[in-house]
Amino acid sequence: MNNLGFQHDDEAKKVSSLVGSSYTSDAIFQLEKQTLLRYLPHFVCTANKVAEPGQYAVCDSGTESVIVACDEDNQLNAFANVCRHRGTRLIDTSTLDGNAGTEPKRLKCFTCPYHAWRYDLKGKLISARQEEQGNPAMQNMRLRALSAQESAGLVFYHGNPVHYPQIEQLEQILGSLALENTVVGARKTYPVKANWKLWVENFLECWHCAPNHPELSSVKRFISQFEANDLPHYMQDDKSWREHAISTGWTPPVDNEFSSTPQFFNFNVSMPLAEGKKSATKTGERLGPALGGNEGLQGGALFGALGPQLFYMAYVDYLVLFSVKPHTVGETFVDIFWMVTPEFSGNKEDLMWLWDTTVQQDIFLVEQTHLGVSSMHYMPGPFCADEYRTEAFTAWWNDWKQANVDV
Ligand code: FES
Ligand SMILES: [Fe+2]
Repeated sequence: MNNLGFQHDDEAKKVSSLVGSSYTSDAIFQLEKQTLLRYLPHFVCTANKVAEPGQYAVCDSGTESVIVACDEDNQLNAFANVCRHRGTRLIDTSTLDGNAGTEPKRLKCFTCPYHAWRYDLKGKLISARQEEQGNPAMQNMRLRALSAQESAGLVFYHGNPVHYPQIEQLEQILGSLALENTVVGARKTYPVKANWKLWVENFLECWHCAPNHPELSSVKRFISQFEANDLPHYMQDDKSWREHAISTGWTPPVDNEFSSTPQFFNFNVSMPLAEGKKSATKTGERLGPALGGNEGLQGGALFGALGPQLFYMAYVDYLVLFSVKPHTVGETFVDIFWMVTPEFSGNKEDLMWLWDTTVQQDIFLVEQTHLGVSSMHYMPGPFCADEYRTEAFTAWWNDWKQANVDV
């Protein structure tokens, strides 16, 4: 301790939250973009939106915009929405369907609005209004390629040249929900005045849930059970739900509390809802048919991430995708999709009730934390036991920092 009663940095580093500059340094944010965020998977759309040649979707995140298109060979291609001539965006995303991020009409090629260069569905330059003739460099020109990867009916893009096995494994976790047949029941983008890591840290622990999320606590009784150290009742609820799931022919996936590689992290856990709740709704009743006809998820939930840019929460009749989009060092967009079956019969407000409410509560907490960690008086503090996943994330991020940031 120094004479002001603060821990010295060396002590704080052992088991504590990140140092302040991790959240506030623009230099670190730029490095994150260049060496970390560019390789991470982003959710683009459901597979049914890009299943046929000429169909495409666009995903915007921060300064980046990426097109995923299905070509004549039925292959998915991902490329930067940046013309190779002078950089203009090929697709103006403000004209796309705001709910799905897709365009209903199909294209044979992408034509730049500026000087009308044309690219095929694989991203290859096919015409520069005759300029390419006789210019070998231009004849081989193509849009900057990224990777498109599909799993469990969801389409992702990322900057890794090879497919991520962790994305493939999503099939075992969410495959029974037939997400390729779902539609966007609601979508809302939340601006958050905070560094993206504070959002992720918040989403990785529920120790803050009891004092902050009454609606979530009413749906997920484990929050009050854990708060009261009432493990026997939690175990009973969990056992009942799992027995119900198995009786329908579906076994919840084995929990993975947190796995990581230097590239990204993932986890998946399942849990029961409060007794009597069929789904995570105000009344506890379902709002529509079971996703993929999987009745086993009734009364329970799956929660996981292809972190740190995508979290998901699945209930029997809807799935919520939380797409975390770092914008600047101090601003993050959280783009939320509520996915339902085409036969969904509930209304949007009921569908959005739980997570719209909970996310707004989280935004307050995270923005207040961003203000706090920006203070010269902020010192990293110790994690508590229930913050184990947040602690694992900060260790993962510190490994990235050690490898990439000159201190
Ligand atoms: S900027 Fe695209 S054709 Fe000129
Ligand atoms: Fe929260």
